[in-house]
Amino acid sequence: ATGGSNRIAIIGSGYGGAVAARKLAQAGKQVDLIEMGTDWEKMSPIKGRIFTTMTSPSARSMWFKTRTDMPFSYLGGMDLVNRRIDRGAGALDIEYFANMKVYVGRGIGGGSLVNGGMAVTPRRSFFEKVLPQVDAEEMYNVYFPRANSGLRVNDPAMDVVMNSPWYQFARVSADQAKRAGIGHVMVPNVYDFDYMRKEVYGQVPRSALDKQVIFGNDYGKNSLPKTILKEALATGRVNVIPMTEVRSIERAPEGAFRLQTKTIDFNGNLIENRTREYDRVVLAAGSIGTTRLLLSAQGEGTINGLPDAIGRGWGPNGNTMLARRLRTRSGWRQSTIPVMGLSNWDDSTDSVFAEIAPFPAGIDLRTGVYLALTNNPHTGTFTWNRGSQKMFLDWGPSHAEPSVRAAQKFFDRINRANPGTGYRSDLFEKHKTFSDYFTYHPLGGAVLGEATDLQGEVKGVPGLFVMDGSLIPAKIGVNPFVTITALAERNMDRLVDAQRF
Ligand code: FDA
Repeated sequence: ATGGSNRIAIIGSGYGGAVAARKLAQAGKQVDLIEMGTDWEKMSPIKGRIFTTMTSPSARSMWFKTRTDMPFSYLGGMDLVNRRIDRGAGALDIEYFANMKVYVGRGIGGGSLVNGGMAVTPRRSFFEKVLPQVDAEEMYNVYFPRANSGLRVNDPAMDVVMNSPWYQFARVSADQAKRAGIGHVMVPNVYDFDYMRKEVYGQVPRSALDKQVIFGNDYGKNSLPKTILKEALATGRVNVIPMTEVRSIERAPEGAFRLQTKTIDFNGNLIENRTREYDRVVLAAGSIGTTRLLLSAQGEGTINGLPDAIGRGWGPNGNTMLARRLRTRSGWRQSTIPVMGLSNWDDSTDSVFAEIAPFPAGIDLRTGVYLALTNNPHTGTFTWNRGSQKMFLDWGPSHAEPSVRAAQKFFDRINRANPGTGYRSDLFEKHKTFSDYFTYHPLGGAVLGEATDLQGEVKGVPGLFVMDGSLIPAKIGVNPFVTITALAERNMDRLVDAQRF
């Protein structure tokens, strides 16, 4: 049993970090919330906006880049989409590995700042296959409902979706799928659809209807700083430490954890390097961030007893993106918030859940864009390289192949039912038709029940916890943040009840 005076750090302020901070603070604990990115709530607006649009990026858009690097970089095979920007602590970052680019959010709120807000509870049968040791009954009765309400998930407004020009792109794709006998589903979101309706009528400043999403969103979206993090901060017990990256973790001989941290300003200038000591550390730096901290501690020998399972069970949630020529207008006005999905999901490896994604280019490209989530049996493994002090990922096109195959089978059917339509191969790198080299949904690396016990405490290292997407092995069949949130809620309840803090 532990006393009540432990020094507690949470590393990372995305979904896992927000839930951990709120739970501990509400249980009366004082916590430090350490986040490498910007505290956007404290930034001053420029021309009324904190964040940029996709078509007018700035230093606020991406994490220390001189040029944007968007998922769709090409038009007609040419690099016409990306723009030069100044370097700064912007909201969207990319973690590069040999054959995989992982898009991640940076700042207080993590991925919630930049994501599409799609808030989907997984099919129960699939959840049970992915995380068989977790009591699904309790998850679906208690924790998924709690996550959905805490994140303020709401259903798309049907009047806006079915009638406004902003969703013509979705309606066209849904009609074409219907001709192939594939129905569509409506996808819940954290974007406030009452607000969006007002955007349609020009009654409020526009955000989803003004090309804001992957570089952040000023209005309408209930990102974590407006929901769970706000409740955590309201306790007065959460000390937010932004712009501060945890570079390494060491276990001191007497048992405390020593974090080496580096604090910078928005332009990247060093403010301070410093050592901080804690008795309990919650890793919530996301699948990549958490796995890197654990693997480096293992590889450099700064924490003894870390399990071999660290770095294993990674996957891109079966993500593959594609685009189709629709042979009909998709609309020059497009909301950035997806609201419909096409699905044949039956838990087999042919399963596809494809979101109809916007492509808000400001011109009518007569194009349908889709993010297909698939049931890919492969997993990747991270390893630590001492010489370069870097983490490597053994993921390549052959790992992604089952995702591409399932998506192609699904969309071939839609193309066949709509004569004259077909794939576009001029939007991705190397003229690929199906992207197999980037993901928005990194999962795994410190899997629940393998690298950690069944409530997220790292095996062999008492006092060290994992609370983010790294717990989920490789895929979950739907967009992941609702599951990450619900699992963190469950684990934190158990850990606090067991007085692990
Ligand atoms: P998350 O990545 O949210 O948070 C980790 C935090 O830790 C970050 O703020 C990071 O800066 C910080 N950090 C990392 N390393 C650190 C270190 N060493 N020191 C200090 N801080 C550190 N999902 C979904 O369900 N629906 C959707 O519509 C979308 N759409 C989408 C679009 C785009 C463009 C992206 C990039 C992602 C999505 N996602 C999504 C994915 C979703 O955003 C993602 O699964 C979650 O944010 C992951 O939550 P975590 O808590 O695991 O980490």
